[in-house]
Amino acid sequence: MLNNWTPGSWRNLPIKQVPTYRDAEALKTVEETLGNFPPLVFAGEARLLKKKLGEVSEGRGFLLQGGDCAESFAEFHPNNIRDTFKVLLQMAVVLTFGANLPVIKVGRLAGQFAKPRSADTETIDGVELPSYRGDIINGFDFTPEDRIPDPKRMLTAYSQAASTLNLLRAFAQGGYADLNLVNQWNMGFVASRPQGERYKEMADRIQDALAFMKACGVSSENTPEMAKTDFFTSHEALLLPYEQALTRVDSTSGEYYNTSAHMLWIGDRTRDPDEAHVEFLRGVANPLGVKAGPSQDPETLIRLIDKLNPENEAGRITVICRFGAGNVEKHLPALIRKVEQEGRKVVWSCDPMHGNTIKSSTGYKTRPFDRILSEVREFFGVHKAEGTHAGGVHFEMTGKDVTECLGGTFEVTEENLSDRYHTACDPRLNANQALELTFLMAEMLKDERGNGIAAAAAS
Ligand code: PEP
Ligand code: CO
Repeated sequence: MLNNWTPGSWRNLPIKQVPTYRDAEALKTVEETLGNFPPLVFAGEARLLKKKLGEVSEGRGFLLQGGDCAESFAEFHPNNIRDTFKVLLQMAVVLTFGANLPVIKVGRLAGQFAKPRSADTETIDGVELPSYRGDIINGFDFTPEDRIPDPKRMLTAYSQAASTLNLLRAFAQGGYADLNLVNQWNMGFVASRPQGERYKEMADRIQDALAFMKACGVSSENTPEMAKTDFFTSHEALLLPYEQALTRVDSTSGEYYNTSAHMLWIGDRTRDPDEAHVEFLRGVANPLGVKAGPSQDPETLIRLIDKLNPENEAGRITVICRFGAGNVEKHLPALIRKVEQEGRKVVWSCDPMHGNTIKSSTGYKTRPFDRILSEVREFFGVHKAEGTHAGGVHFEMTGKDVTECLGGTFEVTEENLSDRYHTACDPRLNANQALELTFLMAEMLKDERGNGIAAAAAS
């Protein structure tokens, strides 16, 4: 058991980004209720993900993590879950086929409800109200009633997470993810566009390969793995009363696991090694992400890694870099060199979203596709120069045809942003933009493997 750690030891430390609930009794009742609810995931699944991420840290795989910035109660609909799942499957197939590398699929789904904010309050037309912090905490509408943190929202979030996960499990295991259906994952509105056509060409080649294998006697009927896929869930572990209530001892290993998701990450604003969020996460055995923005210095990163992963277990830590286009070369090499020099095992992943948010001339919070692509290219470029593995990406995206990020070949313009701007928080890539980026990333990964980095690591 870890030194001085209990599921509640975070409560004695400084904490950022959590709401103050007015009614302490109501909060306690909700925590007790959640504490009696069934776990959402099993410890064994989290261990499997950690093992797979351990492979990624050695250059033998690629992490694809994506989904909404914030899931919302209002947007909860099976079609939204299905479409995000479909695009993630498409992206994984493009990367696997393009780079011959296993792709680990992790959704920002089934629990991604709590949001850190840069300001505690928001002012519109001279009226100041508490900021929206995600549907698990308060409401999106700009009214005093909606913005009051309400602990009962945690119960709604749990219930939405449980049914989302149930559907995802059904899709992943029940036949929908069968490679033979690779053509059906193409979204109607994408199919007729260049990315959709390119995808179809690739899917046809996969179908040919499957037909060949079937003729040789290997099919999803006699090899059930071909009809299934592993799909994992993740979210930012921000609202600690919720996370603690779902933390349980695993009877197999005797370790604590946070059963609210397979993987949890710590945001860029709450990653202080001496504060509450790090304290909480050091005690749960799930794989963890840590965001690293421009203010992350190499020494503190090592201190953070050591606090969270004192045994230097492969697959435990994924460093999710989000510096912004044009800033990667300034920050990433120093972090990589320090981690390599100290021999710490990590997966390096790139979040090209959070350092590239701008306000459009029409007032929308948006992200230009070109800047997102630039950051991904810079990330791959730095890893190539350092001889390390660009291990993954972290996207805010949706399967829907939204107009939230600018650009892409099927150009979204500043004037178009208002057409289908639906996000409850940050702007997401639409399915077309996500697929376009994925084809380009497959080229980058292929190039890395051609350079022998992953191949050398694998030998
Ligand atoms: C997020 O991933 O939604 C987020 C808020 O990221 P960051 O902590 O990197 O700003
Ligand atoms: Co976000």
